[in-house]
Amino acid sequence: MVGPKAIIHLENLVHNYDLIKQQLNGTPIMAVVKANAYGHGAIAVTEALRSKGVNHFAVFTFEEALELRAAGIEEDILVFCRPTKDMLAEAAARNITLNLSAPEDIPLFNMADSSPRFHLKVDTGMSRLGIPFDTVVDILQQIKNNDHLKCEGIYSHYATADEGELSYAEYQLEQFNQVLQVAEELDLKIKHIHFSNSGTVLNMPQTSFNLVRVGMLLYGAFPSDEVPTNMRIKPVMEFKGPVVTLREVPAGTKVSYGGVWEAPQDTIIGVIQAGFADGFPRSWYVDGYIGLRGKNYPIAGRVCMDQFMVDFGGADVRVGDEVLIFGQNNTDTIHVEDIAQAIDSTSYVLLTAIGGRTERIFIN
Ligand SMILES: Cc1ncc(COP(=O)(O)O)c(C=O)c1O
Repeated sequence: MVGPKAIIHLENLVHNYDLIKQQLNGTPIMAVVKANAYGHGAIAVTEALRSKGVNHFAVFTFEEALELRAAGIEEDILVFCRPTKDMLAEAAARNITLNLSAPEDIPLFNMADSSPRFHLKVDTGMSRLGIPFDTVVDILQQIKNNDHLKCEGIYSHYATADEGELSYAEYQLEQFNQVLQVAEELDLKIKHIHFSNSGTVLNMPQTSFNLVRVGMLLYGAFPSDEVPTNMRIKPVMEFKGPVVTLREVPAGTKVSYGGVWEAPQDTIIGVIQAGFADGFPRSWYVDGYIGLRGKNYPIAGRVCMDQFMVDFGGADVRVGDEVLIFGQNNTDTIHVEDIAQAIDSTSYVLLTAIGGRTERIFIN
């Protein structure tokens, strides 16, 4: 099939997993595989990690959890979204763990026989989902006094753990520790306690509790440019597109919409079949480049919906060659983090955008 390809290097995923485990001194990891495993393919990623012994996964929507169950994944799956009434019975039947993140949701879980397991999410400063800090004592008491409520975990989420300045993250940690203290005073035994994400693994590795939720680092990208980057993670996704046309053009030729790019000299313009509808970052055309056989070549003109153009100069390039857009192959490396930084975006945005017509090819 002609078109963009995402080669998913599962061997790199496993390599990254091993490194993270080492960094965490063996604390178990809950692999975050929401949004199709950040664009990498949720089923293949989950299968590769479960074969390494991972037995906690997290997704965002209930449908994402059902997809994993339908694929035969039997390990624990936590659903991050706020639950609705219609999910409850099916969650219990399929052994899917829900998120209790609002005091008003307690009645949903208060069912005699078929109440699903849940993790209690506490808001310590993200102000998104989570039990407000000032109601948490009451909620913990209700959990303690009601056998129908199957609370298996307690967690929170950092707002700034991947930033250089960590005082707000430390404040959130302090809040969370106070909540844990209340749970202890109530003699409430909660099996899983988790707070850390990729930023925390790098910036605050000493604060792991007994489970760590990791997404981005598993996929081989750093969560921001304000974290230590000495961990030798490898990019899991190699995103590439084929050269479908080559044309010699004289200096001054305008290329693509708006005619904003003009050939600085006589050159060869290549058309690559991958566009913003496939997840190619559109604004990367200004200073952007691709890699081919060890050299970078500038993107020429605005990125189109299905294609973009490259100024190949005097390169030895043929129709059918595949250029590296980001990731790593035998001859080229383009870090998705560098693109994100150049266009004021994030690796999260760029990786989760990969989809649509992009063919995923999994390599073990
Ligand atoms: C609740 C929650 N936990 C953990 C993660 C994983 O974060 P990261 O990919 O930075 O490791 C996310 C990702 O957005 C999240 O929403």
